[in-house]
Amino acid sequence: MSEVRDYAKEVSDWVDGVMEYLEKIDITDSPLLSNIERLSGLAKNMDEEEMDYEDMVLIEEEMARVYEEIEELAREFNIQERQSVPIGKHTLPPLPYAYEALEPTISREIMYLHHDKHHQAYVDGLNKAELMMKKARETNDFSLLKHWEKEAAFHGSGHYLHTLFWEVMIPGGGGQPRGDLLKQIEKDFGSFAAFKSHFSEAAKQVEGVGWAILVWSPRARRLEILQSELHMVLTQWDTIPILVLDVWEHAYYLQYKNNRAGYVDKWWDVVNWPKIAVRFTEAKKLIWKKQ
Ligand SMILES: [Fe+2]
Repeated sequence: MSEVRDYAKEVSDWVDGVMEYLEKIDITDSPLLSNIERLSGLAKNMDEEEMDYEDMVLIEEEMARVYEEIEELAREFNIQERQSVPIGKHTLPPLPYAYEALEPTISREIMYLHHDKHHQAYVDGLNKAELMMKKARETNDFSLLKHWEKEAAFHGSGHYLHTLFWEVMIPGGGGQPRGDLLKQIEKDFGSFAAFKSHFSEAAKQVEGVGWAILVWSPRARRLEILQSELHMVLTQWDTIPILVLDVWEHAYYLQYKNNRAGYVDKWWDVVNWPKIAVRFTEAKKLIWKKQ
């Protein structure tokens, strides 16, 4: 009998630990909770009831199921925690290879300056812009907002694009993709050769400084090739729009004439927050495993 009591105590302690952890990661409405409560009840009644081996096996199986779900929750929690960058706290990600690793295609000197100096400057510029916009919100002084928004778009896009840029290169790379990506490229561009020509021309024909960018459109469900002048004009690549407001004159002039501010102030009366919340939930499902 004391063996069953020891086992009941073990299960009960385990349940307490799990509950403590769930509280820490702010899980309050998972179906997991009712499973755990059931386990807890079983543990409490264990030494009062006639337990046999089969009951114990059932409890073990239940515990294993709960454990698996907890592991999944913990994985998501850790990923989200790691990926949440506080305002003004972006950092320069390390190069995923040595400075000289891409020689002879790209020299060590270029990689060093490009990563350690240029990319670092975008990180610093983004942090500064975010902190200044936070200050503007706190003081309700938005007089320099246009400047800091431009800085956030320029440096933010610079930071995110360079982070991607380092990751899309590797020593000994080249050739062509395989599998699903190749199939999609052939479907959307005709052939890999046609894609390569289009992408190369887009890069060569960027007016001034900028990027050629292969994008996936979740709406059109197609790949597309775009150019970006500077890094943005005026967005941050690698973000998903959640709420948009058209301020072209065609959106308000017939009614508000040149009073764009009046249109903007009134516009909030027609915003569909439930719809936006759904879009936000969908967007949050996209989690990059690597920074
Ligand atoms: Fe660059």
